[in-house]
Amino acid sequence: MGINVNETLANGVQKWTGTVNQKAWTLLCGNAADALSGLEDESVNCIITSPPYYSLRDYGVDGQIGLEDTVSAYVASLCEVMDQLYRVLKKDGLLFLNMGDTYYSGKGASHGTDSKSRKRRFGLRPVDKSGGLGENIERKSIIGIPWRVAIEMTSRRWVLRSPIIWRRDKTLPEAVQDRPHRSYEYIFMFAKNRKYYFNRAPLLEQQMDEDVWTITVRPSGTEIETAPYPDELVSRCLDIGCPEGGVVLDPFVGSGTTMNVALQSGRSAIGIDISPSFCHYILEHLEDQK
Ligand SMILES: C[S@@+](CC[C@H](N)C(=O)[O-])C[C@H]1O[C@@H](n2cnc3c(N)ncnc32)[C@H](O)[C@@H]1O
Repeated sequence: MGINVNETLANGVQKWTGTVNQKAWTLLCGNAADALSGLEDESVNCIITSPPYYSLRDYGVDGQIGLEDTVSAYVASLCEVMDQLYRVLKKDGLLFLNMGDTYYSGKGASHGTDSKSRKRRFGLRPVDKSGGLGENIERKSIIGIPWRVAIEMTSRRWVLRSPIIWRRDKTLPEAVQDRPHRSYEYIFMFAKNRKYYFNRAPLLEQQMDEDVWTITVRPSGTEIETAPYPDELVSRCLDIGCPEGGVVLDPFVGSGTTMNVALQSGRSAIGIDISPSFCHYILEHLEDQK
């Protein structure tokens, strides 16, 4: 474990650096768009991330993404970050973007007494407000968030190479009775160019399931409230999409899953998160690693 250096950058972003397994890590605490503006062009091999889902959680930090009043405002905030990711990704790099969808309820009721919502610190979620979220969506309709983001990204030069399905094994069944329960999310694999680093061998050797990945969800209640994704999701992306010793970036790093898996695999890691408490959680855990 190397020595942490803590400095506050001109735009207010806090920065820590260190090493684990002789691999360098950088943790930037601040708004993703601000923190990314300090990274060099074409400096990372691979980006793996799960952005805040639309209208799902309140992380309690000013400048957070996810609680916009309209769907188009959410897509715009996220794509501002995606534009920066395009700039910092190497020419042959890949971005793996994990996203889940959201239903429009429009029922207008406060969720203040619901135990899940208490955890998320909600009054009225954007998806509960009447008015169609700026899109005239009918109540009870799924919004199609992942595809709205993906299609906007393709109009901003990203090559959408593979919409991978993450079949979320061992997920708790939903309470809803009038539709099939949801059991998957997307991992969109985006390239910056038509030619890029890609290793097909693990798909064959480890008998991975091509573009439908069955991976057990992380048990809830064992971590801080970031909705962490499983280590295996990150290691699969690294195996196929990041050269050995490469630099891995996660601009919404939460509890630090991407950084930890990248460092343990002998790669360097850069993590960004807006929540100071999540950043301190990551620092404590990095200190535990040799
Ligand atoms: C779905 S969680 C990521 C979970 C992560 N993959 C893990 O395994 O723990 C999304 C994260 O985005 C962060 N976030 C929200 N708005 C942000 C912003 N504007 N800039 C940077 N981070 C942001 C939240 O604090 C949260 O940790």
